[in-house]
Amino acid sequence: MIDLTGKVAIVTGGGRGLGEAIARKLSSLGAHTVISDLNKEAIEQVVENINSSGGEASGFVSDVANEEEAARLINETAERHGKVDILVNNAGINRDAMLHKMSLEQWRQVLDVNITGVFNTMQPASIQMRKQEQGAIINISSASWMGNVGQANYAAAKAGVVGLTKTASKELGRKGVTVNAICPGFIETDMTRAVPEKVWDMMVGKISMGRAGQPEDVANCIAFLASDQANYITGEVINVGGGMVL
Ligand SMILES: NC(=O)c1ccc[n+]([C@@H]2O[C@H](COP(=O)([O-])OP(=O)(O)OC[C@H]3O[C@@H](n4cnc5c(N)ncnc54)[C@H](O)[C@@H]3O)[C@@H](O)[C@H]2O)c1
Repeated sequence: MIDLTGKVAIVTGGGRGLGEAIARKLSSLGAHTVISDLNKEAIEQVVENINSSGGEASGFVSDVANEEEAARLINETAERHGKVDILVNNAGINRDAMLHKMSLEQWRQVLDVNITGVFNTMQPASIQMRKQEQGAIINISSASWMGNVGQANYAAAKAGVVGLTKTASKELGRKGVTVNAICPGFIETDMTRAVPEKVWDMMVGKISMGRAGQPEDVANCIAFLASDQANYITGEVINVGGGMVL
C-alpha cells in the first residue's frame, strides 16, 4: 500500500490533464500537494475539489519558463512547509509542425517550457533536497523523445528531459534523492483531444493495448515512484504507454 502521509509534493501544470490526475492521486495517498500552473482559475478548481474530498492541497501560480517564478514556487513551498519531498515536472506544451515549416518561435516556445522549465524548478529543488538528504523528482518526458513526425521541437525538449534526469540522478544519488522520468504514450487529455480524428486513430493503431491511456494510468506510476517503496530506483526512464511504439 502506497502511503504519502506527511509528504509535501509539488506538481507543475497541475491545473488540468495529467497534472490534475497526478495531484489528485498524490493527495489521495496523504501528501500535501501544491498545485502549480499558469491558470489561476484551473488551480483553484483542482484545489477545491481535492480539499472538499478529504485531501490537502494548495495552489501556486507560476510560469515554469520564468526562472524567478519557478524558483519562488520551490523556495516558498519549502519555507511554508519546511521541506519539498516530491517534485513532479509535468507542465508542458506542444507547437507541432514539420521541420521544414517550423518557425524559430515554435521551437523556442516549446524548449522554454518543456526543458528550460524543468531545469528552472530542478535547480532550486536540488539545493533544497540536498539539504534534506532525501527527495523524489519525477520528470514527464514523452514517448516522442525518440522522434516523432511533426514534433522536432517537442522531441528535442523531451529527449533533453531524459538527459537532464539521468545526469541529476547521478549527481543527487548519494544525497538520497531519486530522479526518474516517465514517458507517457498517448493519453486522453485536452492536449491529445485537440488532434484531428485521423491522427487519433493512427496513434491508437500504434498501441498494443488498442486504446489511448487515461491520466490515472500515468498518475499511478508516479505515486509509486514518489513513495518510499521506490527509494532505490533512480535514473530510470519508464514508459507508460500501453505498449505504444511510434
Ligand atoms: N497527453 C499525452 O498523451 C502526453 C503524452 C506524452 C507526454 N505528455 C506530457 O505530459 C504533460 C502534461 O500533458 P497534458 O496532456 O496533461 O497537457 P495539457 O495541455 O492538458 O495540460 C498542461 C498543463 O500545463 C500548464 N502549463 C502550460 N505551460 C505552462 C507553464 N509555462 N508553466 C506552468 N504551467 C504550464 C497548462 O496551463 C495546463 O494546465 C506535458 O509535459 C506533456 O508534454 C502528454
